[in-house]
Amino acid sequence: MGLVRIAALNLFIFLVSGESENDDITCNPNITIKGGRITLSNGGEVGSTLRYICPFGFYTYPVPSRTCRRNGQWSLMRNDHGRITSKAECRAFKCPTPSIEQGAFFPISVSYAVGDTVSFECDDGYSLWGSKNRTCLINGRWNGTTAVCQGGLDSCPNPGIPAGSSKSGTNYGFNDKVKYLCLHNLVLIGSNERICLETGEWSGSEPVCQHIYSFDLPEEVASHFSASFSRFLSESKINSEAKEQDGSHGRKLILGQNQKLHIYILLDVSGSITKEDFQNAVAAVTQFVTMIKQFEVGVSYGLVMFGSRTHVEINIAHDDVSDSDSVLQVLPTLKYEDVTKYSNAGTNMTGALKTVLEMMVLQKAAMKNKQLEWRDVRHAILIFTDGRNNVGGNPKPMMDRIRQFLDIENVGEDFLDVYVFGLGSDTSKEEVNSIASQKNNERHVFFMQKEELTTVFNSMLGDQWILTAAHCFEYLPEGNTDSRVIFVGASNTKVQLEIDRVIKHPNYNLTGKVEMGIQEFYDYDIALVKIKSKLKFSTFIRPICLPCTVDTSVALRISQTKPTCADHERELIPTLGTVEAKFIQKTRKHELKNVKIKTGASERASCEQDALKAAIYVNVSNVKDVVTDRFLCTGGSKKNPEVISCKGDSGGPLYIQKLYRYIQVGIVSWGVVNLCEQSYLPDHARDFHINLFKVMDWLKQHLGDSTRFLGQ
Ligand SMILES: *[C@@H]1O[C@H](CO)[C@@H](O)[C@H](O)[C@H]1NC(C)=O
Ligand SMILES: *[C@@H]1O[C@H](CO)[C@@H](O)[C@H](O)[C@H]1NC(C)=O
Ligand SMILES: *[C@@H]1O[C@H](CO)[C@@H](O)[C@H](O)[C@H]1NC(C)=O
Ligand SMILES: *[C@@H]1O[C@H](CO)[C@@H](O)[C@H](O)[C@H]1NC(C)=O
Ligand SMILES: *[C@@H]1O[C@H](CO)[C@@H](O)[C@H](O)[C@H]1NC(C)=O
Ligand SMILES: *[C@@H]1O[C@H](CO)[C@@H](O)[C@H](O)[C@H]1NC(C)=O
Repeated sequence: MGLVRIAALNLFIFLVSGESENDDITCNPNITIKGGRITLSNGGEVGSTLRYICPFGFYTYPVPSRTCRRNGQWSLMRNDHGRITSKAECRAFKCPTPSIEQGAFFPISVSYAVGDTVSFECDDGYSLWGSKNRTCLINGRWNGTTAVCQGGLDSCPNPGIPAGSSKSGTNYGFNDKVKYLCLHNLVLIGSNERICLETGEWSGSEPVCQHIYSFDLPEEVASHFSASFSRFLSESKINSEAKEQDGSHGRKLILGQNQKLHIYILLDVSGSITKEDFQNAVAAVTQFVTMIKQFEVGVSYGLVMFGSRTHVEINIAHDDVSDSDSVLQVLPTLKYEDVTKYSNAGTNMTGALKTVLEMMVLQKAAMKNKQLEWRDVRHAILIFTDGRNNVGGNPKPMMDRIRQFLDIENVGEDFLDVYVFGLGSDTSKEEVNSIASQKNNERHVFFMQKEELTTVFNSMLGDQWILTAAHCFEYLPEGNTDSRVIFVGASNTKVQLEIDRVIKHPNYNLTGKVEMGIQEFYDYDIALVKIKSKLKFSTFIRPICLPCTVDTSVALRISQTKPTCADHERELIPTLGTVEAKFIQKTRKHELKNVKIKTGASERASCEQDALKAAIYVNVSNVKDVVTDRFLCTGGSKKNPEVISCKGDSGGPLYIQKLYRYIQVGIVSWGVVNLCEQSYLPDHARDFHINLFKVMDWLKQHLGDSTRFLGQ
């Protein structure tokens, strides 16, 4: 009885207040913000939202939005000192003051404006990790990475003091803890406490102190997200070996019934979402699924829309509808009008996560029947939210239940990745941070403007650059590429693409040594082709990792704070003996071929020496005249026979497989013999490839805008 009465009472109160809202009370729409503009929902009626909008690089002070209250007044604004104010203004972002132990930085200032640069130095006996110089970016963040002076011999490196934070804890031995706080009004994203692990790494992720209204630049989001997510993809236990042994290039990573990657996409469609926001979000998810499809790993999807209530669009437990193609079919059918029916006003993150947990429970139950290893499944949850979690309570406990259900404590953090994309200025940064994953050298929380979401995923889709050999364009004048096309892919799936431009290495000159009696000289035989549209990836058209990039550091699992290009080189082509590599034999049905790069001094020398057996080099006496430091040598002798390339294979990649990623180290350039069609190969059947590590400056120069290269 008691319960019923309370419910009735609530209803009564609701009706009364509902009636009063019908009165003609409105808030004054004539509101301005210095340096910006405003938008008004519902023309200033009670309950409507006034939103301040500032230009790029500025934030609204003191609040981003106000609500029209029942007394016809906009909600109050308080400044940093707690005083009520009626003036709003657009303020430029500033960067927080950096901090460094056992070192110094200059210039020292109370605040740093966009464009300011600081330089760091370490005391004698300490070496600088991170960026020596950092510049304040338009979003109020320093570029580069935290500068840290390393000197100790502790188990873990000094974890540093990110700008705007204070650190407590100065012991970095096994099991030691450091704690962080953000200064002023900054919000801590990442881990506020880190523990030195046995592995010599710190637990969690580096904290970043962000201004409450600051956002990430789309290119930062794209590179951090793709670096972290490709780690998720590459670590999945994919049974590709069996397929590869038959030499087939069809490297389709088929999981079949052993679906091992489960991706849950949660889209917040609560009250404030406009039709345009909704379409943007759907477009971004479409791009994301398309991108994952390129990797051709078997993925199952769950798709959930949530406001105050939750609606499952795709149930991951239904095998027949949860693959990429089904998702790509469902996405265009989602209608804003339908979605807003259950979106209501609030954002119930707890409810959305509960739905995920329910799907996991169902899926696990289904898997047991098929005797599949649930433990092999790796899970990613991607949450796109534009609002504060305002109904359903704090979502953290529900996330903890998911972690418990997946037994993350025991199976390890690798089995769950939670990414949160906070869209617009209403997201609660602390809350989003509390549910996202925190992993070393990775980021799982991103804040951006709603309309930039598609930019992020679009930039992660196919690229416009093709790396090949310069001699393939010997007769093509540089620059003039009118109506030139390039064919990409294997014969029957070949696509024709229009060339925008061809850039040959400036030092490449085939006839540069004719006067020395060298008819053809292949040094710097490398070119970049830019195509007019973006490449669409498929089984036969796949992206490849370049060395000395941030993505490759992740693929190589280099855990040190500041990996360098030299670290990649040591890891990929150590100067000892030989290194297993692969190339694609185009002239033989695009088969994958295994070769050995001769990297040890003596192996390399005897491989190179065979260059002089090439018909065109019979008159050359010093092999270094034709084989410069830019070449890698592969190929065999009678004792150690090895596949060689044929005419037509040049320009293709020489690459190394690490885990499930492919990292290119060379470009097939030329060979000593062209006996591809014969089974008998002479002792000196050697191939030469341009070593990408030796042309890194040129690659950076042209690809630096679209690829994140390492600092040095
Ligand atoms: C809006 O407010 C400004 C000053 O606050 C005043 O000059 C202007 O006349 C007002 N406009 C309207 C349409 O009320
Ligand atoms: C850092 O800045 C200083 C001073 O502007 C400059 O001399 C130095 O070359 C810079 N160092 C790097 C690594 O960019
Ligand atoms: C930071 O930005 C400045 C200015 O754009 C640039 O010169 C510098 O190389 C950047 N530093 C890092 C570490 O990215
Ligand atoms: C939020 O979702 C949870 C779980 O589905 C549900 O129990 C709760 O009633 C929801 N809260 C609101 C206010 O809708
Ligand atoms: C290539 O080298 C030859 C001989 O040194 C020179 O005459 C020619 O101009 C060079 N070509 C280019 C494109 O640099
Ligand atoms: C090698 O030298 C001989 C004698 O000068 C010449 O006839 C021949 O054409 C040269 N061969 C090549 C490949 O340059």
